[in-house]
Amino acid sequence: MRMNIAAGRANPILAEAIAAALDVQLTPCTIEDFPDGEIQVSVDDTLRGNDVYLIQPTSPPASKHLLELLLLADACRRRGAVRLTAVVPYFGYARQDRRVHGKEAVGARLIADLLYTRFERILTVDLHNPAIEGFFSAHLEHLSAVPLLAQALRQSLSADSIIVAPDLGAVKLGQQYADLLDLPVAHIQKVRLSGRQVSARRVVGDVRNRSPVVIDDMISTGGTMVSAVEALLAHGCLPEITIAATHGLMVGDAAQRFAHLPLRKLIVTDTLVQPPRPSLPAETVSVSHMVAELIKVLSTP
Ligand code: R5P
Repeated sequence: MRMNIAAGRANPILAEAIAAALDVQLTPCTIEDFPDGEIQVSVDDTLRGNDVYLIQPTSPPASKHLLELLLLADACRRRGAVRLTAVVPYFGYARQDRRVHGKEAVGARLIADLLYTRFERILTVDLHNPAIEGFFSAHLEHLSAVPLLAQALRQSLSADSIIVAPDLGAVKLGQQYADLLDLPVAHIQKVRLSGRQVSARRVVGDVRNRSPVVIDDMISTGGTMVSAVEALLAHGCLPEITIAATHGLMVGDAAQRFAHLPLRKLIVTDTLVQPPRPSLPAETVSVSHMVAELIKVLSTP
């Protein structure tokens, strides 16, 4: 089956990098915003009989990028695609994975179900919670960027480094980094006060005179990281802090909030577009080759 790679507008840079790693051109698509807010997409080449991979993280604005992805899938199918794979390096709505107060929608499940109405397969990277895999009722490929990030972190480690999980949900992830890097691990007990504000209640582990490497699956407003760093400094860590996460959403003023922290390094991947951040010691690790390698395997008959 002939392979095509096409993309929505959420992360054209990553889409180009994946296509380049596969040595193919992106299939031309036209995507337009109408004055009333509707999106119209069209796929400019015929796809009759083809195996098509649509690259689109459902990054902010998540709802718009999700709809664009579904519209693209519809257009591809009508152009003759036989098999469709949604390549969603960042899966938005993943944090809506349970009913905290017993009255909310479970957004992560709904979005997974919606994607399977148009796609045979979904490929994603570092879901917010690995248990969400259970929401995907058909073929799911779940990659992890943790080994890539751990490799990048090696250069900014010192003898006194310690991995820190900024909340209980990240403890297993912290252990993964600690194992890969052969470092001790501490964690923080966090309480979320609002969408933007969190409070670090307790640091569990000895961080005194150590250089923390705070890891998480994602950075959104930056509130979790800022409160973790403040708590670590209050507990006597060295002012040499590294932050790493797979998904750097960095919404609102997250970058400005980080500019006040004593950072050695901020490392995220390119699952979402990363603009230049001159005020931060920022580094971006690309998932493009890892995703391309898997696409190669999936497209092999
Ligand atoms: C929460 O469970 C996640 O793993 C992240 O810690 C959180 O979503 C980060 O959000 P923010 O940067 O807004 O604190």
